[in-house]
Amino acid sequence: MKLHLIIGVAVFLLAQAVGVPAPAAEQPQPWMNASLTPDQRADLVIAQLALDEKIQLVHGIGWGPLRPGEPVPPDNNGGAGQILGIARLGIPSVQQADSAVGVRSGAEQSRYATLLPSVLGAASSWDLAAAHLYGDVLGRELRAQGYNQSIGGGVNLARDPRNGRLFEYAGEDPLLAGTMVGHVIRGVQDNHIMSDIKHYALNDQETGRAVVDVQISHKGARESDLLAFELGIRIGQPASVMCSYNKVLGSWACENEWLLNHVLKDAWKFPGFVVSDWDGTHSTDKAVMAGLDVQMPGEEFLGEPLKQAVSAGRIPMRRLDDMVHRVLRSMFSAGVVDHPPTPRRVVDPFKGLEDAQHIAEESIVLLKNDGILPLNVAAVRVIAVIGAHADVGILSGGGSAQVDAPGGNAIDLTRPTQWGKPVYFPSAPLRYIREHARGAQVHFDSGSDPAAAASLAKAADIAIVFADQYMSEAGDAPTLSLPGRQNELIAAVAAANSRTVVVLITGNPVTMPWIDQVAGVMEAWYPGVGGGQAIANLLFGTIVPSGKLPITFAKSEADLPHRQIFGAAPRAAKDDSGGNWLEDNQKRQRFPADYNEGARFGYKWFDSEEKQPLFPFGYGLSYTTFTYSDMHVDPKARTATFTIANSGPRSATEIAQLYVALPSRSGERFRRLAGWQRVVLDAGEHKTVAVTMEPLALAVFDEKKDAWEWLHGRYKVFVGGSSRSLPLQAEVTLY
Ligand code: BGC
Repeated sequence: MKLHLIIGVAVFLLAQAVGVPAPAAEQPQPWMNASLTPDQRADLVIAQLALDEKIQLVHGIGWGPLRPGEPVPPDNNGGAGQILGIARLGIPSVQQADSAVGVRSGAEQSRYATLLPSVLGAASSWDLAAAHLYGDVLGRELRAQGYNQSIGGGVNLARDPRNGRLFEYAGEDPLLAGTMVGHVIRGVQDNHIMSDIKHYALNDQETGRAVVDVQISHKGARESDLLAFELGIRIGQPASVMCSYNKVLGSWACENEWLLNHVLKDAWKFPGFVVSDWDGTHSTDKAVMAGLDVQMPGEEFLGEPLKQAVSAGRIPMRRLDDMVHRVLRSMFSAGVVDHPPTPRRVVDPFKGLEDAQHIAEESIVLLKNDGILPLNVAAVRVIAVIGAHADVGILSGGGSAQVDAPGGNAIDLTRPTQWGKPVYFPSAPLRYIREHARGAQVHFDSGSDPAAAASLAKAADIAIVFADQYMSEAGDAPTLSLPGRQNELIAAVAAANSRTVVVLITGNPVTMPWIDQVAGVMEAWYPGVGGGQAIANLLFGTIVPSGKLPITFAKSEADLPHRQIFGAAPRAAKDDSGGNWLEDNQKRQRFPADYNEGARFGYKWFDSEEKQPLFPFGYGLSYTTFTYSDMHVDPKARTATFTIANSGPRSATEIAQLYVALPSRSGERFRRLAGWQRVVLDAGEHKTVAVTMEPLALAVFDEKKDAWEWLHGRYKVFVGGSSRSLPLQAEVTLY
């Protein structure tokens, strides 16, 4: 493979050097006419391509900078992937960067990238403008760094709350997740950067991700994970879809006829290209004929073997042309040919920080408040800040989503970013708490010894305990518990001081055995580079919390559809966070994951099983109170109109949610989120709000007809501030 690459690069360089074809500018290049459609332009290019050039456009150049020692071509930009362009025709290389929560691999290139809050955090804002801004930060920083494709866009649903990559995804509901990620994609592509959506599909756990065979009904898949993709693709129109590592119903996702050709390309009419996850390709003929368009990162299957298959007539030339067409039309459509990225600039770290902090401030969810928050600066003399390295920084998520911290890992500036090792960003909550509480003494304790932390807390008016959980690609959490001794720490501090507030910096939901002993709890997720500032602003009330949970918090694993992650085989604890997590372990035996819950997970599971969650989906407190009244549902327009009043003391934002229960013959015993609206209200103000229901959130997937269907009958409509607090109810006949 390396030899192939070296030859490929040599041929490429030779072609440039010898200048076989005339310089681009001297030839008429009709495909550069921006008034033609992307499809017309792609076809004009294809007519000029030799077979080798077509093949060159459907695979990557190897692991390159991701694996030390791998050869990299001279124009490589340092990202996770590159497809060599056709310079003689003015077609640039595709330069792909992982950019789930910020642009990856900055440190190696001495480049700065903004760390945004986790995607799960951003989803807690339910704010389409924040989602667009999220994509905008990614898009403009990719541009400034010379990339032209983002390979973020994770939208796998939180089927299992222990999934190690949940921080890269947008929660458990297909409408919320698909909509938020769709708007992130728009934000990226508005910068003339191609975007991606991943990991297609049902890559809902990391444990055994390269060997697990997901069993699920078509109905269950279409109404859950695939619905999130369907909406995300419809809204965002990404350039590519990344197929995942796992099998689905016996066939690898990257050679799965049903997923790729049937659903994605035929049913959804996706015009872009399907790119394999890195080393997720398993064949040539089968994969290509099932709908795979681009192999990443190398060429073992879609390089020479594809050329042979086409030459031998096993794969028709028109299929290869279709693959190339999909790549080129996506490039033209996003504008990467007409508006190539402009490197040799630096990203704007100030704008990045401002945007990241704004999104974080909308993301943080206030889970419990017995009146202690917002903290009253005037009344506090001594504050104890405890745990999670809050004196130096804030945790980020790992794996291919890892962004490098400016100045180095805040807990060890000498250590470069290393796969599987937690990285802290230098946004120390302690510093910003001190800035707010200027008149108070603020002391810090590391929390490593619960007894010592408790004695500091005892002598303080208020204790703020930070607790964190490191999560990363390639592993899942074995349980929902906070790792290490953090539960013990919180219990000890709370026993010493009843005025204890817990701030969680976690990738995933966690259990809270100490919930009744503490006075307040905030879920800050991984809040990004402005996390310390955002947390302090919410604690002290400069900002009123507005985030709502995009995922259910369970009281215990026993309440989940599956008590354990499939294939779970805990390994010894050896990471720095004190957690022990499960590894993907690619070499192990294949095993099935029977997702017999179908689409009934998260709040749909808890509601239909009548289980009480710790905190329900859609839940989050404010420093004010809202009252709902006067609902009217227009069945023709499928719109509910109602009034919300801010009945409390502060201007604030409420996320009003609309849920629907389908007619009884659907057999469903749960409600579905069908729409929402963020409403900004001054103290005492009220507004009339209209929420329109998303048709696909009202549909059932009919397996026999292989199509969406709408049931005629009585629908129950519910509106309120969380999936379990729905004061307004009505019944209407729809369809
Ligand atoms: C991950 C993808 C990522 C790719 C390139 C894979 O292991 O699953 O999400 O984009 O690596 O880094």
